[in-house]
Amino acid sequence: MTKSIKLVCTLFLGLSIISCATTEKKVEKTATTVTYDSSDVHTYSQKKDAYATHLNWVASVDFETKIITATATWDFINVSDTDTIIFDMVDLNVTDVTLNNGQKTGFKVGESQPHLGAPLYIAITPETKSVSISYQTSPSANAVQWLNPAQTYGKKHPFLFTQSEAILARSWIPCQDSPGIKFTYEATVTVPSELLALMSATNPQTKNDSGTYHFEMNQPIPSYLLALAVGDVEFSNLGDRTGVYAEPGQLKAAVYEFAETEEMVQIAEALFGPYKWERYDMLVLPPSFPFGGMENPRLTFVTPTIIAGDRSLTSLIAHELAHSWSGNLVTNANWNDFWMNEGFTVYLERRIMDSLSGTDYADMLAILGKQDLDFSLADLPPLDTRLKLDLKGRNPDDGMTDIAYEKGYFFLTMLKNKFGKKKMDNFLKQYFTDHTFKNITTEEFIVYLDSNLTYLDSASRPSLYIEKWIYEPGLPSNCPQIESKRFQNVSSTLKAWTDGAFAATEIDTKDWSTNEWLQFIRQMPDTLSPSKFKELDNAFGFTQSGNNEILAIWLEKSILGNYHAVDPTIESFLTTVGRRKFLTPLYRALLKADDTGKWANDIYLKARPNYHSVATETLDKLLNYKQTDH
Ligand code: BES
Ligand code: ZN
Repeated sequence: MTKSIKLVCTLFLGLSIISCATTEKKVEKTATTVTYDSSDVHTYSQKKDAYATHLNWVASVDFETKIITATATWDFINVSDTDTIIFDMVDLNVTDVTLNNGQKTGFKVGESQPHLGAPLYIAITPETKSVSISYQTSPSANAVQWLNPAQTYGKKHPFLFTQSEAILARSWIPCQDSPGIKFTYEATVTVPSELLALMSATNPQTKNDSGTYHFEMNQPIPSYLLALAVGDVEFSNLGDRTGVYAEPGQLKAAVYEFAETEEMVQIAEALFGPYKWERYDMLVLPPSFPFGGMENPRLTFVTPTIIAGDRSLTSLIAHELAHSWSGNLVTNANWNDFWMNEGFTVYLERRIMDSLSGTDYADMLAILGKQDLDFSLADLPPLDTRLKLDLKGRNPDDGMTDIAYEKGYFFLTMLKNKFGKKKMDNFLKQYFTDHTFKNITTEEFIVYLDSNLTYLDSASRPSLYIEKWIYEPGLPSNCPQIESKRFQNVSSTLKAWTDGAFAATEIDTKDWSTNEWLQFIRQMPDTLSPSKFKELDNAFGFTQSGNNEILAIWLEKSILGNYHAVDPTIESFLTTVGRRKFLTPLYRALLKADDTGKWANDIYLKARPNYHSVATETLDKLLNYKQTDH
């Protein structure tokens, strides 16, 4: 690692380690020298010294206390004959650590740092093959959201889910929380017997009376893909190797909505190579889930807000499925390379949608994506608009913007336009084969790209501006332009209507997909009067829309346009839905519409208890919310 800066620190571990050791055989040491490798600045673990290869997690979940009591046994390889293995943790109460399932050993929790939590140092010997860490989670563990029955669809049972990406796994399992460390896992989890437990692993399809479930993940995964959900959910098959879990009252709607999943898997396999995770199931979560979807292997977690009744928002499934190749199979080496996960996945998602719903459809998605990209380019500090980031000292979440997704997508689309769809598809298929279950840095990718694609036309290599795309802010001049006849039709229709050429009821929307509706609402001029909003609402019932993408943008525009008929809906939406992508623009609009901040803050106070920590982390900053004030 030529790039990595080495820091040498001396850790004085001696005292606590000796005092923790039992009488059997003391692990004696007074000081250890650790050479810090900064190839991942968001972990304390030291892969070059000792890295985990397998986890056996035995846990029990208590909804009364909101505590998970567990033992994590980690098998590992001791690379450098080190006498200390380091894990990441935050807010865990570690009670006991043993070696090779028996002998107690010393451990020490180091000083906590912002964003990172604390290092857990465990004393080992050269013979040590595994460590078992017994601990309890904190009721406020930031990966875990404990929902009371009122926050679920059925309103009868509590629910729990975790969200580990980017570095929250350490709040529920002490782990080497770096995407560059991959391990297999097994787990035995006990939950109240009226609930089902599910993980990013082999999963049960029915409840049992004991409430104890066993899981296996036999493909190596990074810690950010560890996931657990517990709730009153049932399973239904979609195809031979695809299925969906949801609360009983929502299962039928989910089965209808996601009926195309099996076909998507087939399309994806034809494009990118074999699906390596055996099954592809989805779990529909309660609406406070902070993301649209999370690509937990074998079990994508999805927001219920994509159940629109007409399969119109399923490109999100294509996206999470695509992560089974980009991200889960070939993983960003660290969070500075996040675009290698998400930019590739958006590219794959749109290739899948191109096959499933046609090029017109995929192009509309790309244009909507370009609008998001332009917004982020204008909004973010220039250095944050580079694909390759430098997140040292920052929360990795700061880098998780549309730049990674959409600038990454347009970069790969530029290459596709240059070399042709066929060559690009073949290149990607080979890329996944060559990097299966591995990690990749941006720099390694450039080398791979040059020896497998750009060499085909080396004279044109400089004019691709590859380095500019990756290392410089903004968009290079060769960013592809995407045209859409269907969107041109939307624009001219919108213009004719705003010019008064015809009434809203006369707009011909017969063949419009959700994309056209989104484009229509996004492009509405800022000067539109409340009465024009009313006319649209009367004609199309936007305020009552069951399509949450349409509803969210409509609410945002209505706030900015002083159309107050939506006010009750704004409040009910913000107090039910916890998907950050919808919340941030809505609260921003509320702040703009009422610069005293009262409107936004009044709603936030009511809504905040329903949000997951990744949403409150962002919104607390936006709304200047301080826990101590309340
Ligand atoms: N892996 C992401 C979600 C994520 C990103 C979690 C960063 C934590 C940190 C997931 O695949 C994703 O991108 N979800 C999007 C879906 C969309 C792009 C189709 C979302 O949730 O909106
Ligand atoms: Zn993604």
